[in-house]
Amino acid sequence: MPSTTAKTSTTQNSSGANAPRPIERLVLTGFMGSGKSTVGRSLAQRLGWGFVDLDSLIEQRDGRAVSRIFEESGEAAFRAVETEALISSLQESQLVIALGGGALETTANRQALSAASQTCIILLTASFETLYDRCQQQIAAAESSLPIRPLLGDREAAAARLAHRDANYRETANLVLDTTGHQPEESVDTLLALLRGIL
Ligand code: S3P
Repeated sequence: MPSTTAKTSTTQNSSGANAPRPIERLVLTGFMGSGKSTVGRSLAQRLGWGFVDLDSLIEQRDGRAVSRIFEESGEAAFRAVETEALISSLQESQLVIALGGGALETTANRQALSAASQTCIILLTASFETLYDRCQQQIAAAESSLPIRPLLGDREAAAARLAHRDANYRETANLVLDTTGHQPEESVDTLLALLRGIL
């Protein structure tokens, strides 16, 4: 079973009464290759909840692939649409949201997440080698002429980016799940068992 650490359990309602309110949104965060989209989609299916992959929502709204937005408009333009997509997704209930790996670098996104009630933020981690290898496999399988992960870079650049982001990931998360050596369905099983009491 993947190993986990939990920082918080349930939220309290605004009247101050002690009855915990159920979690209405699960937000998956983590570096590129951590499995946010795969685990998130399956988690949503097993809960009977909706699923939003933030990168896909951005592509729908913008009409261009993420790689094309980076290429033609730059990272800042991508981050602006990402914030809009996150804020609107956080209005919905019974929803699993898979963030892009860089979403927590934007202050507005971290603020929106910390202000969101009844929302559990789950960090998926894995060893750097695992993350990088998963990304390389996905790149090899993709048919895009543009890089499907414009910010991944080479091994050294990716390791530096992960090191730079790690504190933000861990500070924002309510729950951390290490997926190294585990299939996505095992991670989903572990999460469902952990979340049973608060959903
Ligand atoms: C990014 C990660 C990507 C995507 C964009 C930027 C990042 O999502 O949002 O390419 O900054 O790490 P994934 O984490 O799903 O690859």
